[in-house]
Amino acid sequence: MNLNSNKNFVDYVTKLYKNADEEIFSFEYDSQKYWLKKARTTKSNLIHKLFYKLTNIDILLPVEKKSAKESLIFETSKIERLKEIGIQTPNIAFKNDDFFVLEDSGRMVNSYIRKRDITKEKMYYYIDLMLNVLALIHNNSEYHGGAQARNFIYKEGKVTVIDFEDSFDKNISLETLQFRDLILFLLSLTKTRASFELDYDFIINEYIKLVPKNKDFKSKLKDLANKISFLITFSQNKFVKKIIGRDGEGFFKLFVVLKNL
Ligand SMILES: Nc1ncnc2c1ncn2[C@@H]1O[C@H](COP(=O)(O)OP(=O)(O)O)[C@@H](O)[C@H]1O
Ligand SMILES: [Mg+2]
Repeated sequence: MNLNSNKNFVDYVTKLYKNADEEIFSFEYDSQKYWLKKARTTKSNLIHKLFYKLTNIDILLPVEKKSAKESLIFETSKIERLKEIGIQTPNIAFKNDDFFVLEDSGRMVNSYIRKRDITKEKMYYYIDLMLNVLALIHNNSEYHGGAQARNFIYKEGKVTVIDFEDSFDKNISLETLQFRDLILFLLSLTKTRASFELDYDFIINEYIKLVPKNKDFKSKLKDLANKISFLITFSQNKFVKKIIGRDGEGFFKLFVVLKNL
């Protein structure tokens, strides 16, 4: 429900926005949980751009530079556009030029699949749910832009997708952006501390079954892994890690697997 016209709610969230240091945080109102996200600029740093120019590696694609307001408009309209297609995104309770408020959609899938004691059954249950949402996005000629497991939110058997602020140069093909989504997704899975190894071959095959038009992604992943393997040796993984940030940990691990697909 959009609460833009509810004065009490608007006063409440405006005050929260003004007093908060964090860029994104949750709060409760009328016993419903919400998330407030402040508008912020998006851009890639110079090293990132340079590294992309040198290597032409898809996951390192720099994000498009946007002002805080542009980025808020981009994200909120994408949330609404995807919802119209039937992709589960959070309801926007309020928005203005400075921030927007989303209804809570549950807990990050990431927090479930990272667990040491997760069973294989549960793991593939969540992976399957996420793959289905990702496929729905891709089959509707869209990309996610941040398809890591932490941007898939789970509640009562349903997965909601969030975090759409990143956009890319319009010369970048949709296929490249979808390929980047798949890589980010796979990389985020490597962060699990589960007691068993993940079957990436199976996961990639599942994705291709759901998105047949991207059937060449498996060989593209393999090619990329071969291209990257020498980089990892030379950079000792650190440089690459720094650039891809939080998802760097499993980088090496995943690409060794992909090479051997
Ligand atoms: N609608 C929502 N429901 C549940 N959790 C949310 C929601 N929106 C944001 N979050 C939480 O806030 C975190 C950050 O939000 P996100 O939009 O991904 O921002 P960022 O760009 O900083 O990653 C998410 O990883 C999630 O834990
Ligand atoms: Mg996020």
